[in-house]
Amino acid sequence: MSFGPEVSNWKYSLFLENKKNNFNKDNILNILTKKDIDEAYNTISTWNNYFYTPLISLNKLAKKLNIKKIFYKDESKRFNLKSFKALGGAYAVEKITKGKKEIVVSTATAGNHGRSVAWGAQKLGLKCKIFISEHVSEFRAEKMRSFGADVIRVEGNYDNSLKECIKQSKENNWQIVQDVAWQDYKLVPKLTMAGYSVMMKEISEQTKNDKISHVILQAGVGGMAAAMVAGIARYLDNIPKIIIVEPESAACVLESIRAGKIEKISIKKESLMGGMSCDEVSLVPWEILKNSINYCVTVSDNYISKTVKSLANCEFSDDKIIGGECSTPGIVSLAGLCNDSEIKNKIDLNENSNVLIFGCEGDADEELYQKLLNE
Ligand SMILES: Cc1ncc(COP(=O)(O)O)c(C=O)c1O
Repeated sequence: MSFGPEVSNWKYSLFLENKKNNFNKDNILNILTKKDIDEAYNTISTWNNYFYTPLISLNKLAKKLNIKKIFYKDESKRFNLKSFKALGGAYAVEKITKGKKEIVVSTATAGNHGRSVAWGAQKLGLKCKIFISEHVSEFRAEKMRSFGADVIRVEGNYDNSLKECIKQSKENNWQIVQDVAWQDYKLVPKLTMAGYSVMMKEISEQTKNDKISHVILQAGVGGMAAAMVAGIARYLDNIPKIIIVEPESAACVLESIRAGKIEKISIKKESLMGGMSCDEVSLVPWEILKNSINYCVTVSDNYISKTVKSLANCEFSDDKIIGGECSTPGIVSLAGLCNDSEIKNKIDLNENSNVLIFGCEGDADEELYQKLLNE
């Protein structure tokens, strides 16, 4: 009989306090507005098969870590797309194309965003071009093709795929639907973030009777994390402590917080958490995150397969949970923080805490998921 992994031995890699923390609801909702957020919910909640994804209690893990409650938002169930990204790209496609049929949409992606854009385009009968780097699995490429997208593989990393997407889109007059912002390209990334904020609307109702004290948010370019911060400003009465978690090999938010400005990092080795292996925080998220988050933490890839297996084997909760690689860092970092008594004290993690973490994706890459389960 298995008693689960020895989470009491797990460690985080780096921890940093944000000295500039000064959560200001009005400032945050000036960037992603109440109107943006409400429009997204009003639209997405009318889509076929929309329902609240489960908020699962990780009661067994909470007991091991001596935390009151741990809530796990299970995005493996999001519209059969198996990740929260379903809410962003598809919503942006719908908003920017405004019912026109002759538009071709394009994007560059690590996988899940592209799947959302392809799905959104197919729903509206639009053509779609998706650019992927050599690191994106063929399984993920095939999923995007299954939604009718043309998938174009580009040599090199994500940045190369984005450059090629921008170049070909300009030449062919395709409409780029990117989740990353740059100077003069902020509207679409904002729309994707507004789409993601639907998660916090659901959570605010699912936790009506429990005040959330801490929230741990995964970051790649920071879009999801910043959208959740805006959702907290919009929907929650209390402000939890906000902790950003990143792969130790791709800590672009942590390094930017340390520097007090956006820092591009150099990724020596791509993390297995592919969606989070990003070298630069995006502009719009940075404006929200820089003063609203309390702490940053990083984790190693070594705990990914252990966490995937424990979720699947009901070792953290009564329910079997299908959590892919990007669903693991919330759990890993929480265990690591709880195992450091000084930090645990400092950030007020204790038997009265209600911690919210995100299971951002399920087995979106089924082959990798099986490999992690069998490791
Ligand atoms: C699958 C996946 N992609 C991407 C991200 C990161 O999102 P963003 O790039 O908006 O920070 C996450 C966050 O955990 C994720 O789970």
